[in-house]
Amino acid sequence: MRAVVVTALGGPEVLAVTERGIPVPGPHDVLVDVAAAGVNFMDIYGREGRPPYRNEVPFVLGAEGAGRVSLVGAEVTGITAGDVVAWTDVPGSYAEQVVLPADRAVPVPDGVDPETAAAVLLQGCTAHYLATSTWPISEGDVAVVHAAAGGVGLLLTQIVRLRGGTVVATTSGGEKAELAREAGAQHVAGYDDYLAVVREVTGGAGAHVVYDGVGRATFEGGLDALRRRGLMVLYGAASGPVPPIEPLRLQTGGSLYVTRPTLVDYTATREELLARTSELFGWIADGRLSVRIGGRYPLSEAARAHQDLAGRRTTGKLLLVPDAVGRCTA
Ligand SMILES: NC(=O)c1ccc[n+]([C@@H]2O[C@H](COP(=O)([O-])OP(=O)(O)OC[C@H]3O[C@@H](n4cnc5c(N)ncnc54)[C@H](OP(=O)(O)O)[C@@H]3O)[C@@H](O)[C@H]2O)c1
Repeated sequence: MRAVVVTALGGPEVLAVTERGIPVPGPHDVLVDVAAAGVNFMDIYGREGRPPYRNEVPFVLGAEGAGRVSLVGAEVTGITAGDVVAWTDVPGSYAEQVVLPADRAVPVPDGVDPETAAAVLLQGCTAHYLATSTWPISEGDVAVVHAAAGGVGLLLTQIVRLRGGTVVATTSGGEKAELAREAGAQHVAGYDDYLAVVREVTGGAGAHVVYDGVGRATFEGGLDALRRRGLMVLYGAASGPVPPIEPLRLQTGGSLYVTRPTLVDYTATREELLARTSELFGWIADGRLSVRIGGRYPLSEAARAHQDLAGRRTTGKLLLVPDAVGRCTA
């Protein structure tokens, strides 16, 4: 089977499609034919060897996907060959076949196609925990969603709206601004002028929460956008890591809170993983949550997918599709 291997830590050029033996499932595992693998920023960090994503080379990249089960370990119950499952947090997913621990395999209901399932596991569960657990949005809450046309951003914007919140979205403009509006953001601005919009919308009080996956470029300004006792949710670093902050800054900002959450802590048990995915799949099936696949790439174009994602040229979710023969954009 073919897989995308990191041959040395570094830039996109270190990715190589390699023939490897079919992985063998253990008694508690399943073997899956991959229909689509998700492309995520953490894959870029893993390719570069940034902490905490450092691996010994060579290794197969990727952590997310969906596909059909072809083989089931002897001790596995509740999953049979032929089932469609999706997963996140499983290494080696940029491949034609992958072995998963059965307790990470999420059953995909009939109303959701495998590509959509692959597209929603990591970014969808992230948007879900951000808006339902980290700061559970209540009716009337005002949330700043940075990079709102991105993979997490489009889903997060919709979920904040589903819960009755108001979204002040930021994007770099053009088509991205339009997509943020279509996802339900009531206010769309640039990174330089959103603060004025927040003040206007909140009568000067500030936002209840800032969801920031951009990091270095936006973090400090985001603290100024918060109301008293508001929450800064720093969940990513697309523009680079945020330098250390002085605790007094939180006092002078109005007794602010800061958290730096990560998905594994919000899907640590199978029950929590399935609760989040079943709510997401339900919203998708009944049309309340729309999942934008912004690009599909064959395995041989994984490097280009990384360049596009890091280069801010993408919207929504990027997928590697092992069967694809050419590049297309949704
Ligand atoms: N903590 C967690 O649990 C978790 C889970 C999933 C993802 N994440 C993180 O969330 C962030 C967003 O992930 P995503 O997959 O949804 O990506 P994405 O939002 O689809 O792509 C990143 C977007 O960030 C914006 N951006 C602003 N400055 C940038 C810069 N200097 N370089 C690159 N992008 C910049 C761009 O949008 P504009 O052009 O509109 O500015 C870009 O399209 C990443 O940092 C990722 O690591 C965290």
